[in-house]
Amino acid sequence: MNFEDIIQKNRSCRRFYEDFEISMDVLRKLVGYARVSASSGNIHATIDTDVGIAAQSILLGATSIGLGGCMFGSVNRVGLRKKFQIPRKFQIPLVIALGKPKETIKIEKVDSTGNIVYWRDEEMTHHVPKRSLDELIVDFR
Ligand SMILES: Cc1cc2nc3c(=O)[nH]c(=O)nc-3n(C[C@H](O)[C@H](O)[C@H](O)COP(=O)(O)O)c2cc1C
Repeated sequence: MNFEDIIQKNRSCRRFYEDFEISMDVLRKLVGYARVSASSGNIHATIDTDVGIAAQSILLGATSIGLGGCMFGSVNRVGLRKKFQIPRKFQIPLVIALGKPKETIKIEKVDSTGNIVYWRDEEMTHHVPKRSLDELIVDFR
């Protein structure tokens, strides 16, 4: 997959084949992409920007090998900490779901109403509206 394909295909996926297991080697490889990603001052301060960059590297890497996933900011941190016995010294800024995608996701143009809320149709295809490039680029010339 070339870079353009990876970027386009890297949609937030929330449905997975439950019988597909990702090997520890693959997980280590993905964390390796986060390891060499940019971080503020190259130190280990846990700040949102660094976490986002690392998470994106993991998801782009996953997409490049046919996997998919989603960042989850809305998680039960107390429950997770308890279930996996995560020591207090580790924060839980995000959870990344990873797996073999079991859903079709399409990027849509934002319509004239300007609504950017994603939706699922009756065939369970997930649609994600994205603003146009012209709307995003601010030209100060
Ligand atoms: C920092 C961050 C936190 C997110 N948290 C959640 C979440 O808690 N639940 C969820 O369903 N999606 C979550 N998402 C996924 C977004 O909803 C998704 O990126 C957005 O709908 C655009 O879809 P796309 O990733 O396919 O472009 C999160 C994304 C980011 C970047």
